[in-house]
Amino acid sequence: MSFLRKLFGSNKKEETMMTEKMNIGIILGSTRQGRVSPQVGEWVKGIADERGNVNYEIVDIADFELPFLGTTDGSEPGIAAWNEKLASLDGFVFIVQEYNHSITGALKNALDFAREAWNNKAAGIVSYGSTGGARAAEHLRGICGELKIADVRTHPTLSLFTDFENGTEFKPQALHLDNVNAMLDEVEAWSGALKTLR
Ligand SMILES: Cc1cc2nc3c(=O)[nH]c(=O)nc-3n(C[C@H](O)[C@H](O)[C@H](O)COP(=O)(O)O)c2cc1C
Repeated sequence: MSFLRKLFGSNKKEETMMTEKMNIGIILGSTRQGRVSPQVGEWVKGIADERGNVNYEIVDIADFELPFLGTTDGSEPGIAAWNEKLASLDGFVFIVQEYNHSITGALKNALDFAREAWNNKAAGIVSYGSTGGARAAEHLRGICGELKIADVRTHPTLSLFTDFENGTEFKPQALHLDNVNAMLDEVEAWSGALKTLR
């Protein structure tokens, strides 16, 4: 770094961008009582933390107690806190569960509650359902386009039948590990690249 600085002079912004650890939020898409999403989120975080090069944190939509969009004057502290949390993140991993072939109302509401804080950031999707949550994940990809979120290709899909016991106790098959790491590789690379646009 000091050699480059001597040659080209110092660019503080770029230096900070290269040295600061990125922050990536693992967003739990379900707020349902009895939900399984925290088990899935913690499993992804465990794999992500092993990598050591990025700060990963669980972001639970339920903690923000967001009202239903447009039904209040918008002064609830959770709305500002939600935007601040998203603004502090460089990328996202959405934990997506399939509800009536789409994402949950809670996740859609939370997506609608921010705009700039989503823009020019990358995201991966880990989904689950009877068919791996694939239909919900594809709906989310359409929304990501509108919010200028670059959703990566690799997409681990978990089955309610073979990765959960009784549909409630999460016991992921070992085969998913490589896929989660490949997804995180892509999210980290694109999150770093997109920092240059913000
Ligand atoms: C209202 C509702 C609709 C659902 N619709 C689907 C569906 O269309 N496809 C599917 O695979 N699973 C469906 N499920 C099953 C959920 O994917 C499953 O209950 C999952 O555990 C929900 O995630 P959560 O426990 O984190 O909330 C539905 C569940 C609920 C409560």
